[in-house]
Amino acid sequence: MAKKKLTIQEILNRKNSKDKIGMVTVYDYQMAKLVDESDCEMILVGDSLGMIVQGLDGTTHVNIEDMEYHLKCVRRGAPNTFIVADMSFMSYQASKEEAIRNAGKLMKLGADCVKMEGGLGIMDKIKAVTEVGIPVMAHIGLTPQTAAALGGFKLQGKNKETAERLVKEAVAAEEAGAFCVLVELVPAELNELIDKSVSIPVISTGSGPSAVGFNLNAYDMLGIFSDFKPKFVRQYAQLKQVIVDAFNAWNADIKSGSYPANDEAFHMKEEDLPKLD
Ligand code: KIV
Repeated sequence: MAKKKLTIQEILNRKNSKDKIGMVTVYDYQMAKLVDESDCEMILVGDSLGMIVQGLDGTTHVNIEDMEYHLKCVRRGAPNTFIVADMSFMSYQASKEEAIRNAGKLMKLGADCVKMEGGLGIMDKIKAVTEVGIPVMAHIGLTPQTAAALGGFKLQGKNKETAERLVKEAVAAEEAGAFCVLVELVPAELNELIDKSVSIPVISTGSGPSAVGFNLNAYDMLGIFSDFKPKFVRQYAQLKQVIVDAFNAWNADIKSGSYPANDEAFHMKEEDLPKLD
């Protein structure tokens, strides 16, 4: 039986519920199909595609057209899963109009909500987007689009001052109309405080257990991306080695002449074969 897609109201109702939500980050049709077949209830089409798919060293070069392309692929593969689409760097920061227009593009392509990274400086954009009826997931803590300004891809909110700022940002996101807030890479104790300070659901990416939703990247949890393993990643498979071993086995079969075998080729009757002069 096809999975029933979550609604915004159901996500709101899960605040304080024991019925937790798994949100897997994927970027393409085949992976999306696998998530759709699984029990995971949310997909993030993240701008981390800049690193995972495009081989860049961050997310700032990803543009809204990249997001549109990958969102379309993912939506085709996962018709029954709630999809969060990332708004790329500078697709919403410059003006409210631009934010609305670009959020609208993602919604027209099948997103169930958009995700907007940033602190107090983008709350007017979140407000503008939610006021036209587009659901927004706010994203605070480590915000990779502005990681350079935060001192790199590091744990956020470690001291009183930055911790207080993050609580303020979560509260401001709720006031701006966000239906949900993703908190990336802050200490578990701070995330608990954030969760208690807002009445909207919290999604944790590496921020401990005080949340209703949890996000991991498919490439991390499947053990495909292996350059490094963040502390919060739990690997459920070691597919990198499985894949490399498969490539090597096929290559060895080619070299030994065992691939392709007779039954791995198409055949025709001898009388239909033209004769060479
Ligand atoms: O793009 C992404 O994968 C994200 C997660 C790190 C939350 O934004």
